Amino acid sequence: MMMMIASSAKPARLVKPVSALKLPGRYLAHQESLPCLPVPPLQQSLEKYLLALKPLISQEEWDHTQQLLDDFRTSGVGERLQKRLEKRATKTENWLSDWWLQTAYLDYRMPVVIHSSPGVVLPKQDFVDRQGQLRFAAKLIEGVLDFKTMVDNETLPVEYLGGNQLCMNQYYQILSSCRVPGPKRDSVVNYSQAKKAPTHITVVHNFQFFELDVYNSDGTPLTSDQVFTQLEKIWGTSLQTNKEPIGILTTNHRNSWSKAYNNLIKDKVNKESVRTIQKSIFTVCLDAPMPKVSDELYKSRVAAQMLHGGGSRWNSGNRWFDKTLQFIVAEDGSCGLVYEHAPAEGPPIVALVDHVVEFTKKPELVRSPMVPLPMPKKLRFNVTPEIKGDIEKAKQNLNIMIHDLDVKVFVFSVFGKNFPKSEKLSPDAFIQVALQLAYYRIYSRACATYESASLRMFRLGRTDTIRSASVDSLNFVKAMEEPTVQNQEKVNLLRKAIQAHRAYTDMAIGGKAIDRHLLGLKLQAIEDLVSMPEVFMDTSYAVAMHFNLSTSQVPAKTDCVMCFGPVVPDGYGVCYNPMDDHINFSVSAFNSCAETNAARLAHYLERALCDIQQLILQSPKSKL
Ligand code: COA
Repeated sequence: MMMMIASSAKPARLVKPVSALKLPGRYLAHQESLPCLPVPPLQQSLEKYLLALKPLISQEEWDHTQQLLDDFRTSGVGERLQKRLEKRATKTENWLSDWWLQTAYLDYRMPVVIHSSPGVVLPKQDFVDRQGQLRFAAKLIEGVLDFKTMVDNETLPVEYLGGNQLCMNQYYQILSSCRVPGPKRDSVVNYSQAKKAPTHITVVHNFQFFELDVYNSDGTPLTSDQVFTQLEKIWGTSLQTNKEPIGILTTNHRNSWSKAYNNLIKDKVNKESVRTIQKSIFTVCLDAPMPKVSDELYKSRVAAQMLHGGGSRWNSGNRWFDKTLQFIVAEDGSCGLVYEHAPAEGPPIVALVDHVVEFTKKPELVRSPMVPLPMPKKLRFNVTPEIKGDIEKAKQNLNIMIHDLDVKVFVFSVFGKNFPKSEKLSPDAFIQVALQLAYYRIYSRACATYESASLRMFRLGRTDTIRSASVDSLNFVKAMEEPTVQNQEKVNLLRKAIQAHRAYTDMAIGGKAIDRHLLGLKLQAIEDLVSMPEVFMDTSYAVAMHFNLSTSQVPAKTDCVMCFGPVVPDGYGVCYNPMDDHINFSVSAFNSCAETNAARLAHYLERALCDIQQLILQSPKSKL
């Protein structure tokens, strides 16, 4: 998913730069074998930027921007910044990664809930009671620990994209880590490489936090039977909902949370409890059942539960939203997770999910001897009237925010990625072009569209942007709406649009896209304290950065879907997991915007996918 870039971004040292973590032996060699992220040639990016603006702005605006770009180049300002950027690239492992972490995540002041942290909706489990819930949670915990063993032992297979090895650094960032609020900028702490690595997880039930040690004294992980017994103890000692849902504080605007945080940790006991949560390997939230809804709405309801917990009356207090990984298991079989985005993108999280889901399906082979285990430790919080006031304010803000979120999760079941593949078309490009058609049919225009592209082919790579709205996609969607255009012409334009998207994808994953390069030039200007070049103050730049469609493919083996909020008030967040014969989609919007509606976009998207399929099927095959 994309993040809004914090405008006040000023490069500075992080409290603990994620990239400074030392990876152990074998991975280190792998990491060092990866290429460094290049700085694309200036002229090339400026030309591509102009082209990307074409479908978004008027000819007059475009001419004006072209003039600004010419000035940027010929005045020498652009070249100077470019040289500085190239120098930075020679002196850092990745010229972008620390900047990106800061500007996209740690400087961003909006709440992480809805605005940053993605949720994952897992298939409904078939338990309907507490026993089933705890058994499943125990198995899930065992599965995550099994994955952790692979990370610790460096036996996790190196991943590939298009035949190229990928950077594995993100796998070292997601366990034993946590975001920490700061007055102007947050930080991320990571304890996985600490001298004494954490051996506990946090479990939350009825808004009460527990420290659960998940390793035996000989270093072996607890079996799921053992974990189950421990979870039962936790459950038994937290039957009443805690009056003060301390976790709600983490849902607030980051400046408010930072103030409340300092206040909270003034107390020694509170500080100790917060540290225990931050250090824990991950969190498991044992949720209370949510209100029942129809089968049609069920997945959307679970998406909301994963994204925000349902509000202060429901499960939002059953979280610590700064925690990188929080698995959520509810008594009614709903389950999934929410993750704090700063340390990693969706794909490593989903790779972990795939492993864990497979693990939970394995039958229990050995029943472990029941050695008595100590009682999990309840984390205490002393709540002063001031902290209580902060909790109340956070509750109010959260409930307003939740009320504003419109989220729709649905399964498109007419076809999956096998259909475009059988037509020799890229499934991802096919879906993106359909999304352009859906949007155009509603709004009669194209909009700036963001699709995440992995930069993990490069050391410490994160993402760049695929700009899905192109001259070619606009030509196609216009033709689709024009009854006089022959089907054959429409198919030709479709093929061109899909190929253009795939070409942009290849360019982006190859480190040659424009968005991060432009951001780099802008941040370099800030760092050098030179006046901001006009190209970045231009209306066209603002239009190009106003992503009405923020989209991402997060493929998984598991039949799940990731979801996230829109990044602009009048925008949509769209995420999808293309399976062989169906596609799982999530669409989000804000209720406060009269022009957007998640169910409406979902409906138009389904129609667009079907219409494009029909168009292809009705046209002679040889033409494709
Ligand atoms: N004919 C037949 N098959 C084709 C094809 C064609 N013309 N083009 C692609 N395919 C196949 C591919 O080989 C692939 O096969 P597989 O399912 O066996 O692996 C499949 O179709 C999917 O390819 P495609 O749809 O083109 O997408 P992709 O897998 O290359 O993914 C991105 C594209 C942009 C999603 C990917 O490159 C990426 O960057 N992912 C990271 C996303 C991310 O970080 N998100 C962050 C979220 S927080």
